[in-house]
Amino acid sequence: MLNTTLAEKFKKIQTPFYFYDVELLKKTAQTAIAEADKYGYKIHYALKANSNHKILKILSEMGFGADCVSANEIVRAVECGFNPKHIAYAGVGKTDREINTALDLEIFTFNCESLPEIENIDRLAAEKGKIADIAIRINPNVDAHTHEYVTTGLEENKFGISEWQFSETVGKIRSLNSVNLVCLHFHVGSQIVDMEVFETLCKKVNEIQKIFESFEIRLPHLNVGGGLGIDYKNPDANSIVDFKSYFEIFNKNLNLHKGQKLHFELGRSIVAQCGSLITQVTYVKNGRQKSFVITDGGMNDLIRPALYHAYHKIENLTSAKAEKNYDIVGPICESSDCFAKNEPVNETQRGDILAIRSAGAYGEVMASQYNLRELPKAYYSNEI
Ligand code: LLP
Repeated sequence: MLNTTLAEKFKKIQTPFYFYDVELLKKTAQTAIAEADKYGYKIHYALKANSNHKILKILSEMGFGADCVSANEIVRAVECGFNPKHIAYAGVGKTDREINTALDLEIFTFNCESLPEIENIDRLAAEKGKIADIAIRINPNVDAHTHEYVTTGLEENKFGISEWQFSETVGKIRSLNSVNLVCLHFHVGSQIVDMEVFETLCKKVNEIQKIFESFEIRLPHLNVGGGLGIDYKNPDANSIVDFKSYFEIFNKNLNLHKGQKLHFELGRSIVAQCGSLITQVTYVKNGRQKSFVITDGGMNDLIRPALYHAYHKIENLTSAKAEKNYDIVGPICESSDCFAKNEPVNETQRGDILAIRSAGAYGEVMASQYNLRELPKAYYSNEI
């Protein structure tokens, strides 16, 4: 929750910057872990959502595993205290250098997305005299009903291996000596708020497990990815997502083999609500039809609205006046540099401090230096 005392502190810091509410992060993470623990489920935090050292240290200490998509993320995770034995490594284009780093660290699984990738991991593992534990990333052909850029489980996507390739894939893995299949991996998309999608995924996973049983394959692990969505409209009322119902769905609908361990890869639902982009108003420009609030933060600091038309609630922390509707825009020379259109915000003037909420996931990590701007810094509630 952001308040006026914080606003006073924010005024003394060079804007724009990311602000993280550490208490909320810890509460969210604790809730997720407690709900998952009820069923013995393991959560791997998806570093791609936010890979700040401080956030990672908090999460590794709380017992999360990690989900990484590059060797740099793996190295960062290990630096911040994650046990390599609990690191899953996904991605359609793992390079030899990256695979070698992961082999040296002896991670939990390589989540493999194609036959050529499996052959390559086998070759590199053999060179090191090692055996790599792998998961097949399965494309379950489930529609996540989410933005087209963040849906991943449909057949026309570049991700994963489809049902028609199972038999060939299993044959290939059986012929190789340096890979060991231990897990099936699924991920259907991100910002999923329709819980039925996860029910459909469970049913699909059950069917696919049966196909693998017909190959006489029973695996010790299943990984159902991440994707649990958050409430961007009401960040305070719903600051922590309903992890209880989420894990219940899997407990009710998924048939695990005896002793089989279920893994999750959650990113957004763990870190989104604890972060805000704090920005100062440079000008208020009144047009004939509408008024523009021009901020010192831009699409290079938070690209989600420009890239996905994503909604982020915006609050004026320094005005108590009645609300007015504004287009809230950044300073960058592109029309897409717009955080919100026709957004109701307390009447705003030059110098006011705005908070762009729910920006803890896929915010700072996607920032760039476009227009030769500086990368935004990060500040934490327990340090300012
Ligand atoms: N596992 C895999 C294999 C993934 O591809 C992703 C996200 C996750 C887990 C974590 O998903 P989450 O729990 O955070 O939804 N930049 C976009 C989101 C891209 C998501 C990519 N994959 C955004 O700003 O909405």
